[in-house]
Amino acid sequence: MPELKNINIGLMGLGTVGGGVYKLIERRQEEIEKKTGTHIQISKVLVRNLDKERPGVPASVLTDRWEDILEDDDIDIVVEVTGGIEPARTRIIQALNAGKNVVTANKDLIAEYGAELFETADNNGKDFLFEAAVAGGIPIIRPLKECLAGNEITEVMGIVNGTTNYILTRMSEDGMDFDEALAIAAELGYAEADPTADIEGYDAGRKVAIMASLAFHSHVTFADVDIEGITKLTAKDIKFAENFGKVIKLLGIAKNTDEGIEASVHPVLIDRNHPLASVRDAFNAVFVHGDAVDDAMFYGRGAGEFPTASAVTGDIIEAARNIASGCTGRISCAAYRDIPVKPADEVKDKYFLRIKAADRPGVMAGVTGVLGNNQISITQVVQTAAVDGEAEMVIMTDEVRRKHFNDALIILNEMSSVRKICSVIRVY
Ligand code: NAP
Ligand code: HSE
Repeated sequence: MPELKNINIGLMGLGTVGGGVYKLIERRQEEIEKKTGTHIQISKVLVRNLDKERPGVPASVLTDRWEDILEDDDIDIVVEVTGGIEPARTRIIQALNAGKNVVTANKDLIAEYGAELFETADNNGKDFLFEAAVAGGIPIIRPLKECLAGNEITEVMGIVNGTTNYILTRMSEDGMDFDEALAIAAELGYAEADPTADIEGYDAGRKVAIMASLAFHSHVTFADVDIEGITKLTAKDIKFAENFGKVIKLLGIAKNTDEGIEASVHPVLIDRNHPLASVRDAFNAVFVHGDAVDDAMFYGRGAGEFPTASAVTGDIIEAARNIASGCTGRISCAAYRDIPVKPADEVKDKYFLRIKAADRPGVMAGVTGVLGNNQISITQVVQTAAVDGEAEMVIMTDEVRRKHFNDALIILNEMSSVRKICSVIRVY
């Protein structure tokens, strides 16, 4: 058997993901040798706190000095799983410029500085791989870049945040309200100590920016994504949705339309028969539409030690194979199109509108009249029995430009017969 090429890895971060990567590479060592024809070893591990117990990791590989990795010419691959923008951004650029390949799980960074990182990797002819940055263990980056490369992709959408999907599942299946479901998600370790990025939709927004950039070959950043979280949803909305044959999911949606790219994260009512409706608990799923493949769906665990380590390790194996064959930097992520992102006001959606209004003759006609005057066509209306002179109306609309819908909401808000606009939710 020919002698194996040694590939050294500098692992930045030994937390949930880094710890998983360390263990998985140890566990699969022999297989990885057979798969890559190389001997991979993690020769240095960068952490913040050298005093922390790190069971199973020899103290000799640990360092708190980035330079120990950057200046080590024997390190071929840097794996960044520290998180955040800085110093991760500077360090990744330094690593690429120093001729190292980079694997990362850092969605925050790519959603903002992807273009700069892709260009630096291309300029250096190095791999910059980030499968774990979107939907953890689910393969979606490589399918978008490689397996679906023969398609004109027009839509990528999905459930790309496990914490919020878990919360919505509890609200829908157990009738819980948002706060109760969030508390349980925290107890089970799904929600972080500060759950803002998950429940406000920012985490999903970063993943949408990354998927849209790759699918449509244009720069889409986090700031381009129109984002709304799930904090305003109530068990009542979920119940009404059920009565219309729908479930509510937090969907990240990216579409390439004739007028430009639409990129959003919103709670959305989807038909109970849609494949995404059956994605429960903390699972993720991404749905892709291409002109040749038609519809394709990718399903699995979007986070956690080993699911995420699975994606990072797959990237390490790819980089090792490319190094062994002398073909790193083979597949560019750089955008070769410049499709504009559509202003949010121009985006067309269908809506679910829940209103509390006075229970007297003519109120329903007044409300529907305002919608009609703003080019909003109604598809379904339900009114519940009045309590204390107040009735609840739920209206489902046809597709309407956001601007027209918002204009109608302003007028409804000013009507004395409309007591409260309780919910406005998009319908897919
Ligand atoms: P984590 O558990 O907080 O671990 C972070 C690790 O990085 C720790 O070992 C920490 O060192 C080290 N670190 C942080 N800042 C550092 C710095 N400036 N210099 C040196 N070391 C530093 O984080 P994680 O959950 O593993 O997440 C890592 C990355 O993966 C993030 O970008 C995250 O978004 C992404 N990701 C995570 C998941 C998931 O399920 N957790 C899923 C997909 C993607 P100490 O140990 O000394 O504190
Ligand atoms: N916090 C994310 C989630 C996992 O709940 O899906 C990391 O992307």
